Amino acid sequence: MNATVDLHTRYLGFKLRGPLIIGASPISENLDLTRRLVDAGAGAVVMNSLFEEQLVADQAAMARHVLDVSDTFAEALNFFPAMDNHHAGAEQYLKRIEALRAALPEDVPVIASLNGTSVGGWTSYARQIADAGADAIELNVYHLAMDPDETAAEVEDRYIDILDGVKDEVELPVAVKLSPFFSSPVHFMRRLADTSADGLVLFNRFYQPDIDVDHLTAAPTLRLSDSSELLLRLRWLAAAYGNVEADLCASGGVHTAVDAVKAMMTGASCVQLASFLLHEGLDGFVRMQRELTEWLVSHEYGGVRELVGTMSLERCPDPGVFTRANYVKILRSWHG
Ligand SMILES: Cc1cc2nc3c(=O)[nH]c(=O)nc-3n(C[C@H](O)[C@H](O)[C@H](O)COP(=O)(O)O)c2cc1C
Repeated sequence: MNATVDLHTRYLGFKLRGPLIIGASPISENLDLTRRLVDAGAGAVVMNSLFEEQLVADQAAMARHVLDVSDTFAEALNFFPAMDNHHAGAEQYLKRIEALRAALPEDVPVIASLNGTSVGGWTSYARQIADAGADAIELNVYHLAMDPDETAAEVEDRYIDILDGVKDEVELPVAVKLSPFFSSPVHFMRRLADTSADGLVLFNRFYQPDIDVDHLTAAPTLRLSDSSELLLRLRWLAAAYGNVEADLCASGGVHTAVDAVKAMMTGASCVQLASFLLHEGLDGFVRMQRELTEWLVSHEYGGVRELVGTMSLERCPDPGVFTRANYVKILRSWHG
């Protein structure tokens, strides 16, 4: 069946062997599983993130160390080799990039993930990520805009400045992983693309704290997604497709082959799998890949690229479904 369907797609300038890619998650820490997923057809690997907090902690540790050293100047030179120990977070990450790059076929991009919110020196690590062999960077600005003094324009500028900071360091393609919470999401996506983003990942998932009413505490919750989370992505993929000069990638709520088809129809060039892989593992991936192929064959598509954008806002037969036009109709359709 595979012979008649072309699963190749394009993302960030790469020709991917398939549209199902490993999303940022602990999966990439398991080299063996990652390799098997790639053997089964995963088109790219997005690593879990190297966090600004880790990098800043490393820098602070190094600064502290330099101060200690200068206090004992006579012995200073002997101390310098030990400074390496203070880069554990970043260094380990760079080693994992090298290991992944060495273990995976050349046509499977290793996409490192940088994750932070402030404009500052941590973005310079992009250079080391590139030197370690990453093929691209996914930039996750996991910023919760809760400061009443920060305007919407300032939130957007923060993303742009961080993107600029990374792009100043490297020539690699950079995809920005976005939150869904912008006043005018497509306008902002266009701004990112016009600035230099090569790809946009829709969307980041903010982990919601819950309240324990008996103990009067707030606790973070980490629960895996389900397919219902895809719908938010579909609307904004549909709206962005054709309006933004960047490749689109779906992240969030892809749990079946048909979910992946929907994401591509609305405009995604490829889809990331995180919760699904954490839950279903290699067998689940093999099943999804097979079902995607079967779906394409049974619906007489020659390849996945034929799907991309066919149900975007500009091309779907009923664009009102994605916009306000359908809103009143939907509310009125409720029968208790
Ligand atoms: C356990 C776990 C770890 C994750 N780690 C990261 C991470 O390091 N960086 C990141 O950008 N996203 C991370 N994510 C978010 C996923 O990449 C993804 O955006 C989100 O889970 C929605 O996709 P899904 O529905 O396929 O899970 C993580 C998700 C989970 C469940």
